Amino acid sequence: MSSDNLPWVEKYRPAKLDDVYGQKDVVQTVRKFAKEGRIPHLLFYGPPGTGKTSTIIALARELYGKNYRNMVLELNASDDRGIDVVRDQIKNFASTRQIFNSGFKLIILDEADAMSNAAQNALRRVIEKYTKNTRFCILANYSHKLNPALLSRCTRFRFSPLADSALQDRVDYVIKAEGLKIASDARQSLLELSEGDMRRALNVLQACATAVESGEEITQDMVYECVGAPRPQSVMTVLDAIMSNDWTDAYATMTKIRKTEGLALVDLMSGFVSVLDKYELKPRTRMAVLQGLGDIEYSISKGGSDKIQCTAVIGVIKNALENEN
Ligand SMILES: Nc1ncnc2c1ncn2[C@@H]1O[C@H](COP(=O)(O)OP(=O)(O)OP(=O)(O)O)[C@@H](O)[C@H]1O
Ligand SMILES: [Mg+2]
Repeated sequence: MSSDNLPWVEKYRPAKLDDVYGQKDVVQTVRKFAKEGRIPHLLFYGPPGTGKTSTIIALARELYGKNYRNMVLELNASDDRGIDVVRDQIKNFASTRQIFNSGFKLIILDEADAMSNAAQNALRRVIEKYTKNTRFCILANYSHKLNPALLSRCTRFRFSPLADSALQDRVDYVIKAEGLKIASDARQSLLELSEGDMRRALNVLQACATAVESGEEITQDMVYECVGAPRPQSVMTVLDAIMSNDWTDAYATMTKIRKTEGLALVDLMSGFVSVLDKYELKPRTRMAVLQGLGDIEYSISKGGSDKIQCTAVIGVIKNALENEN
């Protein structure tokens, strides 16, 4: 089957609205609009991998069926071909007469927040001009990057990061469909590391599946390796060494684990932040640690030396604990 060569994010792209997981309210509302034949201009915004593109394409498939190609124009607004090209394409598409009249044509403008302000300004005129027989659906990650005049022409839907239960349902479906074996702690880590992004969940799952022999189980370590995130166990080993051992030992442990696992200091630091919940610390101490790590992260982004920032991390944590008493 040709779909075997597809990346799973494409292979498992929702074919109908029912396959869109975890966005019940949005799906329910757009379905209602469609049923009543009163679709407004739409704006879907929210973080990556939450189903914006999938939802509008699934909706369009349900609306137009075989007629999809005639009725839907998909444009990627971040293509750097300029607004003129986009305007021409829209004009051509919107002004060809429909022989079988079956409602509005749909123009999907993906990644609209990558458009320049001038282009967005031009677009609002275009939208107005063709409202008679077309509807626009604008997709973006950030609504604040869109021109207010554009926003006010659309009905807005926010796509939130997907709940773990939604990720889990879809991931389980794919695991079953692909006949994978996965340890339950590995599955749990996969969900946590995906942070509400279904695209990431499926990509990591596929990377893991490629790494194992068929029939072999996907382990938690593999998941961490594929994501490039440190394993909680290693993070805790370093954190424990910093908290309980002397300076030299703490530094040695940190260096060793960073080397064997190939971790950048910032990865280790985000690891600290996520395991810190498991430690019993006074609020003041926790605050001092987090604030200190924040400052160091900033210094690293400004090009601070790795060795100095490493020692600063140890210093921040030890200091915070010392001041606890
Ligand atoms: N809610 C969802 N239900 C089921 N699958 C989903 C969902 N969201 C994302 N996916 C999966 O992730 C892939 C990417 O999703 P999609 O292109 O819809 O994300 P997006 O929200 O448009 O992201 P971006 O902002 O990066 O464009 C889809 O092909 C699908 O496999
Ligand atoms: Mg998209």
